[in-house]
Formats: sequence, structure tokens, C-alpha cells
Amino acid sequence: MSIVERAAEIRAPFPATSDLIERAVSSKGPRPDSANDRNLAKGAEAGSVAERSTGKAPRIIKINQDWLREQSIVTPASERTAIGESFRRVKRQILANVANPGAGAPTNLVMVTSSLEGEGKTFCATNLAISIAMEMDRTVLLVDADVAKPSVPRTLGIEVGKGLMDVLLDPRIDLADVMWRTDIEKLSILPAGTGHRRATELLASERMRALLTEMATRYHDRVIIFDSPPLLAASEAGVLASCMGQIVMVVEAGKTTEHDLKDALRRIESCDIVGVVLNKGGAPNAGYYYGAYGA
Ligand SMILES: Nc1ncnc2c1ncn2[C@@H]1O[C@H](COP(=O)(O)OP(=O)(O)OP(=O)(O)O)[C@@H](O)[C@H]1O
Ligand SMILES: [Mg+2]
Repeated sequence: MSIVERAAEIRAPFPATSDLIERAVSSKGPRPDSANDRNLAKGAEAGSVAERSTGKAPRIIKINQDWLREQSIVTPASERTAIGESFRRVKRQILANVANPGAGAPTNLVMVTSSLEGEGKTFCATNLAISIAMEMDRTVLLVDADVAKPSVPRTLGIEVGKGLMDVLLDPRIDLADVMWRTDIEKLSILPAGTGHRRATELLASERMRALLTEMATRYHDRVIIFDSPPLLAASEAGVLASCMGQIVMVVEAGKTTEHDLKDALRRIESCDIVGVVLNKGGAPNAGYYYGAYGA
């Protein structure tokens, strides 16, 4: 059975009247507050100053948690919110898959993607990363793999420099040189780094494969979340997808079309575990679904 056929069988985790894709593409929930877009610059303005230590001592960066809350992103200090509860449910599915590795790519490599721009990939990746970091026995590395249009720093209200692309380009640069620990305990960040016109080739390189293996195996308790570009608008996401153990496909309620979703799902058929998250679907408690299925 193809992944598209199987995706159509995903059911919501509570009694549902129609299948997930049908619900996802027909849901007419309220659109996001466009004030968020206007506020994006604000986060960076209020952003933190990186505390860089000398030598190889861990570098710690302070995340603007007020700015996170303004964007409806969960923080360790947040009250219980409907969005937080939704991501907690998605997180449980992801962690269950991490605990049951299969024969394919490591299940702790988790890519968040979608069909097109603006559907909520960075929002979902950040919420998931922080939610998982709040677990007792997990650490998280949030990788900004949207190398052409990085937006994790802006979302977290931080300023960062070199990152993944610099490590891929220059073998003298080590992952540890460009990673940041954050003041959210157990959450680290790997920035996208310097943009490069051959980003897709760099992401498809042997060096990238070696880095992914290093990331996946170095710490047994680590989950790596990749914020990625849209599958239908850029080739980088498809390349990354082929190395991922799990993919979270974000569907924007009332906007993503069934055609685009199916097209995007076809491009990630190589991944054994694909979940679909319905984003911006009105009351957040009823807005997120996650269906996972193995090969
Ligand atoms: N469920 C949500 N509730 C409130 N705001 C949201 C939600 N999902 C996304 N947003 C907001 O919508 C905007 C677009 O989201 P985001 O940047 O995550 O999309 P994206 O898919 O990563 O976009 P791009 O393809 O450009 O990287 C942001 O301002 C984000 O804060
Ligand atoms: Mg994004």
C-alpha cells in the first residue's frame, strides 16, 4: 500500500466523522492572527545576547520566553494551554516511535515539514522541541534546516551566527563549535548558518550523512527535531526526508489542498513513519491529529 493510501487511513485519536486528510483539507478554522507576523521583528529586537564562553565550554543562549508566549509557543513556565496539550499528544506519539526503532533511519531524527510556505512548520517544530525538552529523560536538539530561509532564531528571539551549512562547507568546523545550549534546560539549537547556493547538494552530501549519524547516536536520550523548508517549494526538504526516521507533516486547516498534501506525501515515501498535524484548525484542542504507521 502506498504512503498516500495509508495516509488516507489515519484516524483522529477520538471519534471522528471523516478521515484525517478530508478533515484537514476541508476544515475552515480561523486563520492565524496576522499580528504574529507584525510581531516577528519584535522578538529579534528583544532578543538575547549570546553568552559565549572561551574554548570549547558550552555556549549558552538566552531565549526570549515572553516572546515565545506571545506567539502561542509553549514554555516551561507556561500555564497549561490548549495548544500545549495538543503538542503534548503529538509528542507522546513521536516519543513512542523513538522508543521503538525499526530497521530504517534512526527514529530520533524527526523532520517537521509541509507542502507549502507559511503552514506552521517552524511553529510546530519549536512547540514540539520545547515540549519534548520538558520531559524528564529527554534532551532535544532543534536544527534549523530551512537553510534558505532560516526562521528559528527569529521565532526564539535570538541572534546566532554560524551553523549547519558552515559545518558542511568547512571540515575544520565541528558541530560543537556552532551548537548552542539554551536556558531552556535540555534544549539545544543548531542554527542553519551561512546561506549557500548549493544548499541542496550540501544536504545530500556524505558529510551530511555522517553528521546525521553523529547527531542520532552521540546521546542515547536525544531527539533531534528538524525545522525544514516546504516540500513542494524547495528541493532541500526532499533530500533531508530520505534520511529521517520520522516526519511530521503540517497541514494548515482550510488552506492546504488535498492535491498538495498528496503531492507532498509522495515525496516522502521513503520515510517509514509519517504523522500529520492539523494546524490552525480552530479550537486547538480539536486541531491536532497525529497518525503514525510503520512500514
Ligand atoms: N497554530 C498557530 N497558532 C497561532 N499562530 C500560528 C500557528 N501556526 C503558525 N502560526 C503563525 O503563523 C505564521 C507562519 O508560521 P510558521 O513560520 O511556523 O510557518 P512555516 O511553515 O514555518 O513558514 P515558512 O514556510 O515560511 O518557513 C507565524 O507567524 C506563526 O507564528
Ligand atoms: Mg518556517
